[in-house]
Amino acid sequence: MKLVKFQNEKEAGAYLGQMIIDIVKANPKAVLGLATGSTPIPAYQYIAEHKGDVSFKDVVTFNLDEYLDCSIQEQTYRQFMHDNLFSKIDIDEKNTHFPDRKELDAYDELIDRAGGIDIQVLGIGNNGHIGFNEPGTEADAKTHVVELTESTIQANKRFFNDDVSLVPTHAVTMGLGTIRKAKKIVLMATTKSKHDAIVKTLGGSFDKSCPASVLFDHQDTDIVVTNEVID
Ligand code: GLP
Repeated sequence: MKLVKFQNEKEAGAYLGQMIIDIVKANPKAVLGLATGSTPIPAYQYIAEHKGDVSFKDVVTFNLDEYLDCSIQEQTYRQFMHDNLFSKIDIDEKNTHFPDRKELDAYDELIDRAGGIDIQVLGIGNNGHIGFNEPGTEADAKTHVVELTESTIQANKRFFNDDVSLVPTHAVTMGLGTIRKAKKIVLMATTKSKHDAIVKTLGGSFDKSCPASVLFDHQDTDIVVTNEVID
């Protein structure tokens, strides 16, 4: 695990965005693991602005998670990815995948058949969740359905008119075991509210109360933070 620090989220986003561009340049059929949330947006913006003549038409993507029974269509993670990245590059949206309750084991198998994820982007919840793997998740979990915790529902209500009753209660997420299989992982945290979760993530062992700490012995993980998160 390598800690990489930046002054602000724009610089952090440029680091991750350039890394993704370089991976696709080297391998036009790269397999990308993507994340939603506000944290990766600067990286997606950077890609849109700096892709040059790099083509994403043969790139395959697997998103980390998706809500179940989302009351507001514009808030589905597929829509988020379309708005923030897919519509700005020449990716074929047929090659973009999101987990679904009807295909849980099949999602892990599809990732394996695609050759595994070359780079997995991760944000982190205030409670240390990655994807929607909430505290208590087993280290070897595969793609599964989860009931969202109160803390996650509260954190996400800002996308649902601040109305808790509109926030989905369940989601499908890649498991911690699925995520750990990625060849490279970049976890980003750019706000103060993530401080405690990042400290636990860097703790040096798997602590079930902080799912992201499962990455402690992953072969190639960057933990990218701003000064606001860790001085
Ligand atoms: C959601 C997503 C996570 C994301 C987290 C943090 O719960 N399922 O994948 O990392 O939010 O979001 P943000 O980056 O907006 O703080």
